Amino acid sequence: MAKKRRLYWQLFIPYLLIVLLALIAVLLYSSNLLEEILLKQTESDLRSQAILFQEQLRSDLPPDDRTDALCKTLGRGLPTRFTVILPNGRVVGDSDEDPARMDNHLDRPEVATALTEPVGVSTRFSNTLGKRMMYLAMPLRESQMLFAIVRASVPIESVYGRIKTVQNRILLGGAIVAFLAVIAGFLVYRRVRRPLRQIQEGAMAFARGEFQPKLPLPDTEEMAQVAETLNRMAAELQQRIGTITQQRNELETVLSSMAEGVFGVDRDERIMGMNQAAGRILGCDPLLTRGKTIQEAFRISSLQEFVKKALAGEERLEEDFLINIYGERERALNVHGTPLRDESGNRTGILVVMHDITELRRLENIRRDFVANASHEIRTPLTAIKGFVETLRDGAMQNPEDADRFLSIIQKHVDRLAALVEDLLSLSRIERETERDEIILEEQAIQGVLESAVQLCRGKGDARNIRIELVCSETLKAKINPPLLEQAVMNLLDNAINASADGKAIRVETGEQETEVLVHVKDLGLGIEKGNLDRLFERFYRVDKARSRKRGGTGLGLAIVKHIMEAHKGRVTVESRPGAGSAFTLHLQKVSPEKIIQS
Ligand SMILES: Nc1ncnc2c1ncn2[C@@H]1O[C@H](COP(=O)(O)OP(=O)(O)OP(=O)(O)O)[C@@H](O)[C@H]1O
Ligand SMILES: [Mg+2]
Repeated sequence: MAKKRRLYWQLFIPYLLIVLLALIAVLLYSSNLLEEILLKQTESDLRSQAILFQEQLRSDLPPDDRTDALCKTLGRGLPTRFTVILPNGRVVGDSDEDPARMDNHLDRPEVATALTEPVGVSTRFSNTLGKRMMYLAMPLRESQMLFAIVRASVPIESVYGRIKTVQNRILLGGAIVAFLAVIAGFLVYRRVRRPLRQIQEGAMAFARGEFQPKLPLPDTEEMAQVAETLNRMAAELQQRIGTITQQRNELETVLSSMAEGVFGVDRDERIMGMNQAAGRILGCDPLLTRGKTIQEAFRISSLQEFVKKALAGEERLEEDFLINIYGERERALNVHGTPLRDESGNRTGILVVMHDITELRRLENIRRDFVANASHEIRTPLTAIKGFVETLRDGAMQNPEDADRFLSIIQKHVDRLAALVEDLLSLSRIERETERDEIILEEQAIQGVLESAVQLCRGKGDARNIRIELVCSETLKAKINPPLLEQAVMNLLDNAINASADGKAIRVETGEQETEVLVHVKDLGLGIEKGNLDRLFERFYRVDKARSRKRGGTGLGLAIVKHIMEAHKGRVTVESRPGAGSAFTLHLQKVSPEKIIQS
């Protein structure tokens, strides 16, 4: 910005200049006028005196020795000096000097003029008197005959003295006016400055984002207009900022509540912004990554490559990756990169959206494994059945003993297949009904259900001398679906019997917690290694495949229990020590106390 002069000087200097110019003009004009007037007056005085002097001389023509005496008599007591000069230039009379000592006066301009004209005037410095003088000469004629030139003269110092006095007065007046002008300028400046300051301070506050209070309106109309315009601008600004803030907040809320990770990258590969989900997926702080390059923000080379590729291309890009962040398990990501453009259509960067598809992948794998496992489980008995049927046809039927044995083996495999299909069906039915919320839970006593489950398993236990004890209070109630709960308890009892040695006991106990009713199924059997506990409830998972299969198990029993408990909005847990036995616990939802009072 060029250097600016202050308003004060802008107002004051022109004021002062105008006053000074006016003063000089007045001074020059008045001095000239005054000089002219005073000289004119002096000239007319001289003329009257010269005429009077002429009349005195006229009675005694031509001039002679008495003329000088007459001059001296007339001039006595007057500032005017009278001189009489003959046409040849010789001075014959003078009121102040001795004419004999005066030189020829023909060369004096007033005298020269008076020889031909009626009057000659000259103003000059007199060497004789050492003063500025005005001279007025007139010819003295009598019947066309020129006898002499009569001259009257007077010092004009007093004229210039008077002019000087007037000039001084004017100068003094001018100084006073100039001083008043300065004060007036200052007052005007102050009047203008105060509202200007207020407007300036207000505008600065607006710039800082403080839109209240509004600017006061100054009483000068133009200033008031400026202030009003600024106020209107501030109001509009405030409204716009409000709208922008609201839109930004909405956008931020949407972004931060999204499950998908979203981040923007500009053309220099710098992060423009990132939502919380992206921070979680990439293991970085969304606030700290703003402005950093992708290399600084996260160390996932596959994603960095993807961003570069998406920035270089024009099209929307989609890829799936597996990412491995230190200290976390592997995740599967489905990533989209969409070009970002500004209003004029120029590329400004890309928007990356990441879906965490780890869970989806896991479920896909489970499904795939399930199909493979199920097929495998079906194929084994089918192969056996096919083999024995062929053996029978090939002649084994002729031997009744062999035939009977093979048929019973076939029967066993068919039973196993039937059991498998039954389990698969019940698993999918429970799953489906849970999903559709079709399983009805009722608040009722659980003792009867447990009793019937124990009863149904007692036969299998008795065969191996395994006792099943049940401890349950009659009044204990929970939210249950009786047939499903019975099936779950039966599955647990079946496993417990399978795991127990002959003659051991199994206990079914109940317990109560604040919000849950617990059903424990405890055995003193084999127990389960800790490493297997996590996977126990997966479909087809068996700790000891051979042993389970020998007993006709499919590995679906505990998966069914888990699903039944999910349908009950509860869960199943297990504690086990190898060699010492296992305890499976069903957690059921308790009936809320107020409901008990109502019923
Ligand atoms: N009480 C237990 N003690 C020791 N191991 C057990 C016990 N319960 C289950 N297991 C182990 O967990 C595996 C899975 O049990 P699950 O009930 O799902 O299948 P299964 O009993 O083999 O077959 P199914 O129940 O379908 O007939 C079993 O094979 C067994 O190895
Ligand atoms: Mg089982």
